[in-house]
Amino acid sequence: MNRPIVAPSVLASDFANLQREIEMINESEADWIHIDIMDGVFVPNLSMGLPVVEAIRRHAKKPMDVHLMIVQPERYVEAFRDAGAATISVHVEACPHLHRNIQQIKALGCKAGVAINPHTPINALENILQDIDLVCVMSVNPGFGAQKFIEHTYRKVAGLKKAIEASGSAALIEIDGGVNQQNARALLDAGADVLVAGNFVFSAAAPKDVIARLKAVK
Ligand code: DX5
Ligand code: ZN
Repeated sequence: MNRPIVAPSVLASDFANLQREIEMINESEADWIHIDIMDGVFVPNLSMGLPVVEAIRRHAKKPMDVHLMIVQPERYVEAFRDAGAATISVHVEACPHLHRNIQQIKALGCKAGVAINPHTPINALENILQDIDLVCVMSVNPGFGAQKFIEHTYRKVAGLKKAIEASGSAALIEIDGGVNQQNARALLDAGADVLVAGNFVFSAAAPKDVIARLKAVK
């Protein structure tokens, strides 16, 4: 099994010391920087916007993985590309014209991802898997960090892995929410490629060690 891609979620970082937090990620074994954008409409919370993403970019030495928890993402994807996003994920539940959203993201030169809420069945992705680079499987209800991991995620990931292989897609499976040392192994066994971790990394006394341990899960 390949080593997982590890993407610390800056939502859980100390925003008053963002430069220091990004430098910690730079110096760590993390692969990507996961950035959560919330609009207070699609999810019941607000997080950060474009100026903060631009500020992160000034220090980031790793690709920025931008998770848009917003309605009408087509209004903002170009701005997030300009702010430095390498990957942009939109929610299937927020996008009645998902195929068009994905084409837009790819035409802007970004990798395109689709995020799915815990209650959304994987067959909602059946006709888009061939077109995308990433599926972000929400293992908590989006909107907040530090929530409890939802156990049905393992089954969902296993089914999704099969569907991706059957479709001939090269999409990666990313797990977002409540990821920790206890569930990482089973998630990778089920077919996950990317582990997002917010609270588990940033609440630790030694975040770089936590990232290294996630990287070494096998
Ligand atoms: C939740 C966000 C997650 C969150 C993960 O809406 O999409 O990326 O930051 O945080 P933890 O790892 O603390 O659950
Ligand atoms: Zn996220």
